[in-house]
Amino acid sequence: MTDEIFHSIFPRPEMVPAAYAITSPLQQGRYLCDGEIRTWSGPHQDVLSPVHETILDTIQPKLIGSYPLLTEEQALEALDAACRAYDHGRGAWPTMGVEERIKHVEAFAFRMQEEREHVVKLLMWEIGKSLPDAGKEFDRTIDYIRDTIDALKDLDRVSSRFVIEQDVIAQIRRAPLGVVLCMGPFNYPLNETFTTLIPALIMGNAVIFKPPKLGVLLHQPLLEAFRDSFPRGVINTINGEGQKVIGPLMKSGRIDVLAFIGSSRVADSLKKQHPRPHRLRGVLGLEAKNAAIILQDADLDHAVQECVLGALSYNGQRCTALKMLFVHEKIADTFIAKFSEAVDKLQIGMPWDDKVQITPLPEPNKTGYLTQLIDDARSKGARVVNQKGGRVHHTIMSPAVVYPVGPGMRLYTEEQFGPVVPIAAFADIEEPMNYVTQSDYGQQVSLFGTDPEIIADLIDPLVNQVCRVNINSQCQRGPDTFPFTGRKDSAEGTLSVSDALRAFTIRTLVAAKETDTNRRIIKSIITERRSRFLSTDFIF
Ligand code: G3H
Repeated sequence: MTDEIFHSIFPRPEMVPAAYAITSPLQQGRYLCDGEIRTWSGPHQDVLSPVHETILDTIQPKLIGSYPLLTEEQALEALDAACRAYDHGRGAWPTMGVEERIKHVEAFAFRMQEEREHVVKLLMWEIGKSLPDAGKEFDRTIDYIRDTIDALKDLDRVSSRFVIEQDVIAQIRRAPLGVVLCMGPFNYPLNETFTTLIPALIMGNAVIFKPPKLGVLLHQPLLEAFRDSFPRGVINTINGEGQKVIGPLMKSGRIDVLAFIGSSRVADSLKKQHPRPHRLRGVLGLEAKNAAIILQDADLDHAVQECVLGALSYNGQRCTALKMLFVHEKIADTFIAKFSEAVDKLQIGMPWDDKVQITPLPEPNKTGYLTQLIDDARSKGARVVNQKGGRVHHTIMSPAVVYPVGPGMRLYTEEQFGPVVPIAAFADIEEPMNYVTQSDYGQQVSLFGTDPEIIADLIDPLVNQVCRVNINSQCQRGPDTFPFTGRKDSAEGTLSVSDALRAFTIRTLVAAKETDTNRRIIKSIITERRSRFLSTDFIF
């Protein structure tokens, strides 16, 4: 019998609001290579939504579409196309002026915006993201593109000056690196892919882009916009199984930058396949196990509110999610009671339901995996402390608060990436501090407390363990102009609107000893506007 909290949760097809219904599956069947959208007649992968439907009293996964399962051959064609477009840095795109490249990206953003409704709907069906969060993901991506354009204009304005040092005159700019392979994660399939793809493109690189395993179809509405907005071969898409299509690209040695958001295990295996690893630059966003430390004097209501958001927004499927809470033992009972109550109030439902917070999980058998983590903790002395916690109905799990979680339990160290919140009580601040220090991950931490002296004492050692210390605030990536990175197994390189422009480029300069001849040559090049690199043109 269905648990009452899941009663009638998966809708009958006619109950899905018309604006969000998928009436016929989206058979993608196409991919973008060398400036043309090619039709694929080979095998396809069906896409089943985690958002199930009730049909004649049975709950069934809904088929929402399919995408091409390309092979090594098409992957290498995409690589050839990107290499041709880049042409060892001599292609039209890498040598194009910045202002001109910006126009292409603006044209793309304009076309992309027309597809908002389509993409948001697919985000809900493919990865179970709630309607407001899916809308936010789309809008945040458009803002990211605009901010990137503004940041590039600033960067270019600064670089349009000459530097004279020790009788050498130079102009220093940032130049592209080559062919970039961009792969984003399933939890932000649009946003996190575009936070690498857009800066890589705008800086003059050629890109091959593979959507994540989940969150593929939502890229289909953008294929034509990509084709029409960029010169041939500058952007190419590939679909298919990672091992078949990505392995050959890495082994070719012709990928110059790997921009990958996912697990460190996959990142390592991809990097190892490159025959000349010193030529490969990595821009990696990897896993994390961010801790919250709730001190004895914390404002509990506020800490509860931030920790619920931090641990359970989008079902806890964020790399920045709070994945382990440490609460001072003197306030542990009160905190846990308040936290559990707040968690049990979260609304479970379909992505388009009003005020929904907990939605179906897209990864295959994710509820089974999370149940194993909870069972492991239970077998070692922890329990699920919230009334409704850990109940499973097909692809949905009601969020579970597990306490007391300690060393030796999988939940203590493993990144759960789902709606399970492990809590430990501490007597000595060294316990959570050691946890953070010993962790394999080093992304962020949240501190909850009110005494500036105690907080200051913790900040100084913590900033050498992680890359962002949040005070009385959940962990998060935004604002996107802030540096987003991590230590240890959590990241390689830094992303932010301006850092990403640097990540996909290398500083390059034209320099000359200050002689009359050289002055004359440089002056002539500039006044006659003979070079796009050596130029004092100013972008307004
Ligand atoms: O999954 C990792 C994302 O970068 C987190 O971004 O903190 O804005 O949700 P967010």
